[in-house]
Amino acid sequence: MTDHNEYINNKRSDFSKGTLTETDVDRDPFIQFESWLKQALDAEVPELQAMHLSTVLDNKPSSRVVYLRKMANNKFWFYGNYESKKGKSLEQNPYASLNFFWPELQRQIRIEGIVKKATLDSSDNYFVSRPRESQLGAWASAQSNVLQSREELEKRLIEITNEFEGKPVPRPAFWGGWVFKANYYEFWQGRKSRLHDRICYELKNTDWNIFRLAP
Ligand SMILES: Cc1cc2nc3c(=O)[nH]c(=O)nc-3n(C[C@H](O)[C@H](O)[C@H](O)COP(=O)(O)O)c2cc1C
Repeated sequence: MTDHNEYINNKRSDFSKGTLTETDVDRDPFIQFESWLKQALDAEVPELQAMHLSTVLDNKPSSRVVYLRKMANNKFWFYGNYESKKGKSLEQNPYASLNFFWPELQRQIRIEGIVKKATLDSSDNYFVSRPRESQLGAWASAQSNVLQSREELEKRLIEITNEFEGKPVPRPAFWGGWVFKANYYEFWQGRKSRLHDRICYELKNTDWNIFRLAP
């Protein structure tokens, strides 16, 4: 059996699938993001819409994976419980970051920005589009609160299922979307000998400054 410590200590990947230069990239980082996302789709990267969302609560950073559900014009939408840890964090401190890692393409994208709650319409439209089980799950789970047991959650789901039997499930007021507005991007392409390409965009007034960082 492989020793896990030995494995993580010695595991090396050599990155050689692509290159990225200042002239390759689009002047608009959102178009560049869309272009990489399409390539990830074509490469059948599993869970390509899963992104690490990092937030800060009381000066303490915390990360979790959420699904990207919509994007347009440097804005990225995701959904969840407003009373969860991420909800409380974003209420207190709207600065956040996203990270996508697509190993099949040896690519990482870091995005920094500011988060606001999505409009009620956007939250309603997305909630309606979810499977009924997920809608019931949103009601049943006081996300990020301590549970006494698994049974407590399952019992709550049964109660909620009975309550909405034969009726459409409305969106709970405590559940909805957020819009992340990007002001910084980094596109990372793995290269040989750890000499990776890192092409960044920073928003200055209305223009995007493009520069390269040392790997
Ligand atoms: C692949 C994947 C996708 C997820 N998508 C979401 C999501 O879209 N919204 C969400 O609230 N939680 C999602 N989660 C669960 C979160 O990672 C996290 O457990 C939850 O949001 C509670 O985090 P918090 O306590 O920091 O608020 C997802 C988890 C995984 C692994």
